[in-house]
Amino acid sequence: MNNRTLAILKPDCVRKNLIGEVLTKITSAGFTIKAIKMVRLNKDSAGGFYEIHRDKPFFGSLLDYMTSGPCIPVVLEKENAVNDFRTLIGATDPAKAADGTIRKLFADSITQNIIHGSDSDENAAIEISHFFSRKELLENYGL
Ligand code: RTP
Ligand code: MG
Repeated sequence: MNNRTLAILKPDCVRKNLIGEVLTKITSAGFTIKAIKMVRLNKDSAGGFYEIHRDKPFFGSLLDYMTSGPCIPVVLEKENAVNDFRTLIGATDPAKAADGTIRKLFADSITQNIIHGSDSDENAAIEISHFFSRKELLENYGL
């Protein structure tokens, strides 16, 4: 499957009241919202999600940020979803992100950067299962 990716509208996106504007950017770029909910991560769940970064110097501030308020995981569908979504959100550091990208438009810093996007098809599947059980995907969302 190369047609699904996991986005997270991060806690700063929710706090800044940007949910609607960001989702409009996403759907205007041709993505379909297949599943969506609002959740509050704790240190364990955020640490599990970003396990690959556990030894990085920014891991502590990343966990503080991701647990600072509710966030919105979203399953998106589109041909070439992973790569096209990474292009739409822009570079990790909004100062380096291309004009018109979601991070360039809305993000404040390299840590508080509004939105997450999976970086491979394999990770997209793992990340979707972090937030949505198989039963939930089938029964609630018809996936
Ligand atoms: P994401 O996984 O959230 O889509 O972001 P990404 O691939 O663009 O960047 P990644 O390297 O995976 O980093 C994950 C998140 O950690 C925070 N971060 N802070 N130097 C820093 O302070 C720093 N570097 C990364 C960001 O929230 C980044 O999105
Ligand atoms: Mg990443």
